[in-house]
Amino acid sequence: MLPVFLFLLLILLSAADASVQDFCVGDISASDTPAGYPCKDVSHVTTNDFVFKGLGKAGNTSNIIKAAVTPAFVGQFPGVNGLGISAARLDLAPGGVVPLHTHPGGSELLVVTQGMILAGFISSANGVYYTTLHKGDTMVFPQGLLHFQVNAGGVTAVAIVTFSSPNPGLQITAFALFANSLPSALVEKVTFLDDAQVKKLKKVLGGSG
Ligand SMILES: *[C@@H]1O[C@H](CO)[C@@H](O)[C@H](O)[C@H]1NC(C)=O
Repeated sequence: MLPVFLFLLLILLSAADASVQDFCVGDISASDTPAGYPCKDVSHVTTNDFVFKGLGKAGNTSNIIKAAVTPAFVGQFPGVNGLGISAARLDLAPGGVVPLHTHPGGSELLVVTQGMILAGFISSANGVYYTTLHKGDTMVFPQGLLHFQVNAGGVTAVAIVTFSSPNPGLQITAFALFANSLPSALVEKVTFLDDAQVKKLKKVLGGSG
């Protein structure tokens, strides 16, 4: 019996030796890659790498969309590197809106912690899924789909959002269409919008062409 026991012990020990890597805190002085940042030397990793303190503070909503997103993505929070998760805080002043946008890299889970938010997404089949969320309500936005958030009350709304990616990415549709330098005639051709509307939006959003 003893040799069998020793054999099993040996297998267990060698399995522990070949353990999965616990973490890979991002060395954000290097470049991000599709596989994430390279790992920071473990001897330099501290508790602080796994803690992000920025989400307790309201973002500055004095801007054209009256909204602020405070990211805790891998660039700000290197501890999430390689873990497939990240977070952010959303502040929406009265009248505020996060315009139609996508996160190419991950799905989003939003939890309202204050106020009311009208939120929704549009599926690939052009189905619309939207509702008004109250404090404590949670909504999920599937990866890559166009979605939006609008303040639905008279007070500032706040939400904590999490993502299924350390770096979910962000593309705001109106900015993609009108904050660029594509010639207006081409934008009109590919959007079916008229010249006046395209020129107006390019002006408001800082586009040229
Ligand atoms: C918020 O942003 C606006 C516009 O950039 C700026 O004028 C203002 O000082 C900022 N407020 C705070 C508290 O940082």
